[in-house]
Amino acid sequence: MRRVLVTGGAGFMGSNFVRYLIDHTDDHVTVLDRLTYAANRGSLDGVPDERLIFVQGDVGDAAAVDELFAGSDAVVHFAAESHNDNSLNDPRSFLDTNVVGTYTLLEAARRHGTRLHHVSTDEVFGDLELNDAAKFTESSPYNPSSPYSATKASSDLLVRAWRRSFGVRATISNCSNNYGPYQHVEKFIPRQITNVLRGLRPKLYGRGENVRDWIHVDDHSSAVLRILENGEIGETYLIGADGERSNREVVEMILEVMGQPLDAYDLVSDRAGHDLRYAVDSTKLREEFDWAPRYRDFEAGLRATIDWYRDNEWWWAPAKDATEALYAARGQV
Ligand code: NAD
Ligand code: DAU
Repeated sequence: MRRVLVTGGAGFMGSNFVRYLIDHTDDHVTVLDRLTYAANRGSLDGVPDERLIFVQGDVGDAAAVDELFAGSDAVVHFAAESHNDNSLNDPRSFLDTNVVGTYTLLEAARRHGTRLHHVSTDEVFGDLELNDAAKFTESSPYNPSSPYSATKASSDLLVRAWRRSFGVRATISNCSNNYGPYQHVEKFIPRQITNVLRGLRPKLYGRGENVRDWIHVDDHSSAVLRILENGEIGETYLIGADGERSNREVVEMILEVMGQPLDAYDLVSDRAGHDLRYAVDSTKLREEFDWAPRYRDFEAGLRATIDWYRDNEWWWAPAKDATEALYAARGQV
């Protein structure tokens, strides 16, 4: 029996990964999560008690982290402050969790010799031109734009340094934008779906021309499990599903699926320093592990996600008003 520690396991991608592990392995899981505003304990409802231990705590708490590493065979590190807009308004917690928190885990991995997989983002590479065939690869230079992506880039560099200097058995993945169930309503796709469900209009930053490369969260989970089990120590893998869409295209698709006029959205003030386009070349992952995304039809994945939000108002409604109040205070309504 393998015991896997998942940090940030009450967040969007962490909770989906925990479910994926439970469904596809015999692993027992320990979740370490601080339960910030972004977490929802209900995201782990239904995971059998005998296979899950939940610990509320901070990845920066060295004593707690040390004890958990002592009892773990492998660690998958999802915990982070993850929202770019928040990082523009109050960056401090991004430094504490994303940088110091990752450092704390690395020191524990060094002491205990524990296998660690670090979950990161394609945003560490900065952005690409809108009308260009170029994509990020594992050798793209680091060039982060926002406080969020700068802290994620810092955490990646710490992982690389702890690997080289201290032999920590770590791998890194950098993924594009995830969508699917249990994503906080502050993020683009859930915000627009729940706006329509609430009778509000979707909100597009700027002119809606920015491009993101969408991947279903289950495909992220399957890729991370492959890397955890078969990845070469010290290597970085890019995860993506060739899902490039402009934000306007995504909003129009949501409106169409939800039976609204295609122009029933508002253009609102743009994000400062807004990255133009992300696109990921995941050839290395696909060729080394024969990995392929299961959700290749973005519209089908989006429909399923819309259905999930329609059916699970209990999960998202408690966070909706506060999230929109924050956006209103920032003028993004
Ligand atoms: P999220 O904001 O939904 O969840 C983050 C989780 O981490 C929450 O449960 C929160 O309570 C927890 N957390 C925050 N600070 C903590 C701390 N100090 N100690 C312990 N737990 C803490 O984030 P997400 O979208 O699920 O992203 C997960 C990871 O994946 C992040 O590292 C993010 O950078 C990365 N990532 C996200 C995306 C995406 O599209 N969402 C894409 C690529 C990479
Ligand atoms: O690329 C991976 C990254 O994807 C992750 O590292 C981040 O954790 C994750 O939040 C995401 O970052 P983005 O900034 O791309 O995601 P967000 O959902 O905030 O916004 C997606 C796009 O939609 C972006 O171009 C901004 C735009 N947007 C966002 C919101 C919330 C809007 O147009 N309107 C909105 O209301």
